Amino acid sequence: MHAMNPPDVSPYQRIGGDAAIRKLVDRFYERMDKLPEAYAARKIHPADLTESGNKLFDFLSGWLGGPQRYVEKHGHPMLRRRHFPYAIGPEERDQWLLCMQLALDETVADEPLRTTLFAQFVQLGEHLRNCGANAHACEPEAART
Ligand code: HEM
Repeated sequence: MHAMNPPDVSPYQRIGGDAAIRKLVDRFYERMDKLPEAYAARKIHPADLTESGNKLFDFLSGWLGGPQRYVEKHGHPMLRRRHFPYAIGPEERDQWLLCMQLALDETVADEPLRTTLFAQFVQLGEHLRNCGANAHACEPEAART
């Protein structure tokens, strides 16, 4: 037995299950709503963030190895495609990540878990970026098809 690092413990369990994910999501959208530095990310979201929060909660639950709620309700996440309608450049990506970094710091006490999760969010955020930097124009792909 590896008591220090049990192989069968999912990130969902390590983070603290539903209650911890809900706290993380609430803090995340609170930050996005209030931080002036996150305004570019905030302004492409709906005025009411309730449903955005519910979707992120459902997604993270499955992504962390818990119940696959997002898939059950909406099908495969296809996150990159679902983000095509929004112009996500380096600024929006970084602002999203800033809110997530702050929310993780405030709600996840397990430091190695926090660091691992943030590194994965950084990769995912870059994967979802659909304009700016190396792209020719800040125009979501969906608008071109
Ligand atoms: C980096 C990791 C990210 C994750 C895990 C994530 C996750 C999600 C999920 C699960 C949804 C719901 C999709 C749906 O069913 O419609 C969503 C929607 C959305 N995301 Fe992201 N996202 C990420 C990055 C970003 C970034 C960088 C931006 C730019 C600011 C962004 C902006 C949005 C917007 C505007 C919506 C629509 C909100 C709504 O309809 O309520 N996301 N995201």
